[in-house]
Amino acid sequence: MRKIGRKNSPIPIGIKNKKRFMPAKIDFDALKAGQSVLFGSEYTLSFIRQSDLNDIVETLHDEEVIAFLHFAPSPDSLYEAYFQPIIADTASQIERGEWPETPTFTLRDNKGKYMGMVGLQPVIFLEGNYEIGYQFARHAWGKGLATTTCRFATAFAFEKLRAHKLAADCYAGNARSARVLEKTGFQREGVQKGYYRIHNGFDDRLIYGMTSEQFARLKA
Ligand SMILES: CC(C)(COP(=O)(O)OP(=O)(O)OC[C@H]1O[C@@H](n2cnc3c(N)ncnc32)[C@H](O)[C@@H]1OP(=O)(O)O)[C@@H](O)C(=O)NCCC(=O)NCCS
Repeated sequence: MRKIGRKNSPIPIGIKNKKRFMPAKIDFDALKAGQSVLFGSEYTLSFIRQSDLNDIVETLHDEEVIAFLHFAPSPDSLYEAYFQPIIADTASQIERGEWPETPTFTLRDNKGKYMGMVGLQPVIFLEGNYEIGYQFARHAWGKGLATTTCRFATAFAFEKLRAHKLAADCYAGNARSARVLEKTGFQREGVQKGYYRIHNGFDDRLIYGMTSEQFARLKA
């Protein structure tokens, strides 16, 4: 079985293999019912819940994690004001048996340790368009987890939500994040010069995207 990315990637995935783009044994019925589902043999995945909030905010206290996040550092109250409505809406949409409007996945190891999150944010007024973003705790870096979860969320958007277009962006200095997007199959669509403020000046913004047609070709 061909493995893409790091040798210790938790889930063998091949970008050109439809079955392997998304981890094969995701229990989507359980996920939609709000349960944690197996994500490979060592991790579990669920939609964001109230009990994730402390871990998410704690992760955003880590200077290395926020080095390339334009919304951080911010007061905890701002993080909470952002995530609380998503958590509440997710709970009520799950209760109604629907996919959440802002699907936000959290990943934990089998002992319940928080690893990170990937979110799909719908673009207002553009039905079928989503922005994808992710943050992982430092102890989770370098295991291929971000790539695997980003691929999962990408496939989820196109296959379950019937998305038309996914967009993503990162600081030019955030080589890890650019690599995650490229390994997922996103194409670099542009560069905005000097977009992000950094400690000693400004950094460029790399813009990435994938259409449903490009996603279909990845799996062809
Ligand atoms: C970006 C982030 C999600 C990557 O997580 P990760 O678990 O290290 O990602 P993966 O292991 O799946 O892949 C990282 C890739 O970057 C590569 N990489 C690591 N350090 C690198 C560096 N300094 N320069 C270039 N590539 C680098 C890795 O080798 C790996 O590629 P490979 O599989 O081809 O070897 C994580 O660092 C993070 O959460 N950062 C803070 C939040 C953030 O910046 N989010 C993105 C906002 S756009």
